[in-house]
Amino acid sequence: MDILRNANLPEVTSKDGKSLPIIGMGTFGNDKYKSSEVAAAVLGAIKAGYRFFDGAAAYGNEEDIGRVYQQAFAQGLVKREELFILSKLWNDMHGPGKVIAALKKTLKDLQLDYLDAYLVHWPFPNYHAPGAGIDDRHPDARPFFVDEFMATWTQMEALVDAGLVRYIGVSNMTIPKLREVLPLCRRRPVFNEVEMHPAFQQPELFRYCQEQGVIPLAYSPLGSAERPARDTEVTDIEVFKMSELVEIAKRHSVHPALVCLKWATQRGHIPVPFSVKESEYTDNYKAVYSDPLSEEEMRIIEKADKGDRLIKAKVFLWPGAKDWRNIWDLEGVIDRTGWKEN
Ligand SMILES: NC(=O)c1ccc[n+]([C@@H]2O[C@H](COP(=O)([O-])OP(=O)(O)OC[C@H]3O[C@@H](n4cnc5c(N)ncnc54)[C@H](OP(=O)(O)O)[C@@H]3O)[C@@H](O)[C@H]2O)c1
Repeated sequence: MDILRNANLPEVTSKDGKSLPIIGMGTFGNDKYKSSEVAAAVLGAIKAGYRFFDGAAAYGNEEDIGRVYQQAFAQGLVKREELFILSKLWNDMHGPGKVIAALKKTLKDLQLDYLDAYLVHWPFPNYHAPGAGIDDRHPDARPFFVDEFMATWTQMEALVDAGLVRYIGVSNMTIPKLREVLPLCRRRPVFNEVEMHPAFQQPELFRYCQEQGVIPLAYSPLGSAERPARDTEVTDIEVFKMSELVEIAKRHSVHPALVCLKWATQRGHIPVPFSVKESEYTDNYKAVYSDPLSEEEMRIIEKADKGDRLIKAKVFLWPGAKDWRNIWDLEGVIDRTGWKEN
C-alpha cells in the first residue's frame, strides 16, 4: 500500500525511510457536509486503508478530525507515524509572526505534535469567510507579490527547522509565480496542490513541477461536482459525463470517478478525492491499486483534456481586477490587472 509506485515522483520520503501514499483523502465538506460527517468519513477511510489526509484550517473541521485521529490511535487502528497528515495555512495568517500561531492552532485542534506537510493555501493573503457567496470580495485583497510571499515562506521554513512540520509546500501556484519564488527559497516547496482532473490536466504546470522536483497534488480530482456555487459557471464541464471517461469506465465496469483516479496515479500526480460515503471512498482507494488503465486508455484521456478550470477562486479577486482569470496568470506573467497601490 504505502509505496511510491510511480517512478515520476521524487523520492521525497526516502530521506527518513517513510514513503508517501499515492492517494489521499480530501476533507473539505464543500459547505455542504458537516464537520462531524467529514470526521466520521476520515475514521472510515483509515479503516479502508487510507493513510494520507488532505486538510486545512479553512475547512473548519480540524477539531473533529483531531478527535478521530486520537480514536484511531487509541483503538490501535493505526500509529501516528503511519499517517501522512497535511494541513494548510489560511489566507488571514500570512503576516509577520502569524504562521507559527496558525500552525500551533492546527496542531492543537488535530491533537498532534507535528504535521507531515503544511502548505500555503493560496499565494496571497486574500481572506474569505466560510460559506462565502459568489459576489463576496474582501476590500483588502491583493494580487501576488513575491516579496510578500517570501515573508510568509521564510516563516514556513522556520517550522521545519523547529521540527514542527516535516515538509512544506504551496498550493494554487502558477508557473510564473513558481519561477519567482523557487530561486529565493532556502527550503523549496515539496508540493504544489492544484486543480487537476481529466478535463483540466494542466500539462505545462505538471511538467514544470516534475522538472523542479515539486510533487503535484491534485485537488478536485473528480471534477468537484459538489463545489460551492461561488466556483461554478453554466458552461462548466461535468467530468463524469465526458464521453471518453464513460466509455473507459464501461470497459472496466466501474464509475467514471474511478477512471479519474487511476489516470491520476498512473500519470504521476497524487489525487485527494473527497467523499463522505463509505462505498465511494472505499472504491476510490481500491481503484488505484487494481486494474490499471492501458497505455491506449491513458492516451485517450490525455487527448480529452478540455482546459476547463472548475475552481475559479473569484472570491479572491482584488479591487480593479476584471475576472477570475486574473488569478491564474494566463498570459505567462504575473497578472495584476487593475491593481493600484494606495
Ligand atoms: N488546495 C486547495 O485550494 C483545494 C481546493 C479544493 C479542494 N481541495 C481538496 O481537494 C479535495 C477534493 O476536492 P473536491 O471535494 O473539490 O472534489 P472531488 O474530489 O473532485 O469531488 C468530490 C465529489 O465527488 C463525488 N464522488 C466521490 N467519489 C465518488 C465515487 N466513487 N463515485 C461517484 N461520485 C464520487 C462525491 O459526490 P457526493 O458528495 O454527491 O457523493 C464528492 O462530493 C477537497 O476535499 C480538499 O481536501 C483543495
